[in-house]
Amino acid sequence: MLIDIQLLPIKFDPLSISAHTVAVIDVLRATSVIIHALSQGATEIIPVATIEEALSRITQFPEGTTLLGGERESRKIEGFDLGNSPREYIGERIKGKRLILTTTNGTKAFHLVSSGREILATSFFNIGAISHHCLDMRTDLLIFPSGDEGRFSLEDVVCGGMLIDRMLEKGKGPFSLTDASQSALILYERFKENLVKALRLSTHGQDLIERGFEEDLSYCAQVDITNVVPIFRDGVIRIR
Ligand code: MLT
Repeated sequence: MLIDIQLLPIKFDPLSISAHTVAVIDVLRATSVIIHALSQGATEIIPVATIEEALSRITQFPEGTTLLGGERESRKIEGFDLGNSPREYIGERIKGKRLILTTTNGTKAFHLVSSGREILATSFFNIGAISHHCLDMRTDLLIFPSGDEGRFSLEDVVCGGMLIDRMLEKGKGPFSLTDASQSALILYERFKENLVKALRLSTHGQDLIERGFEEDLSYCAQVDITNVVPIFRDGVIRIR
């Protein structure tokens, strides 16, 4: 099984990943929100690129069934129900509801890799469940960090390295790692005793601290708090 990681979030030749499982990662904070919301009973999540699209999509659903969530410059969007902190996506607020989500990087990343065979929302929250699922799939894997407005994102690559580490530990192989996935593994090794440190060092982590969301860093660094495996298919993310 080939395990690769795309260190920069760029568009692919769709055919090149049509047989791959793809693990999309945006630890800070879009995939953390998606996984958290589904584990708390949200029915489905529609990731969209723009605020306009979110406002237009919500009119297609009966009133009271659907929430609008997301951020711009990390802050809740005016008129939306929820922002982009996983801590908001909890209990009765989200249970039984559909969520339309728009964020700066994470929600766009799903559309960049939509030609993949199966596309999974991944973060530290569900890393164990995702590693089992990827091993069961037996296809080549592309890990896709969402990045930070087109730039490398330390926290996502460390999470990707952790996914590779878990798969090597649990799977029978043989595995083949690219230079990029070897590098992600080395980065993960560097931070595995203190994941929060990687989040605090990252550019986006520092932005979040400055904007008043410091608590989200340690929250998003929690490992294996749920077993949900969210799959993006036909524009919607649902639990398998
Ligand atoms: C993103 O998708 O870019 C992030 O989730 C942004 C954030 O939460 O601040």
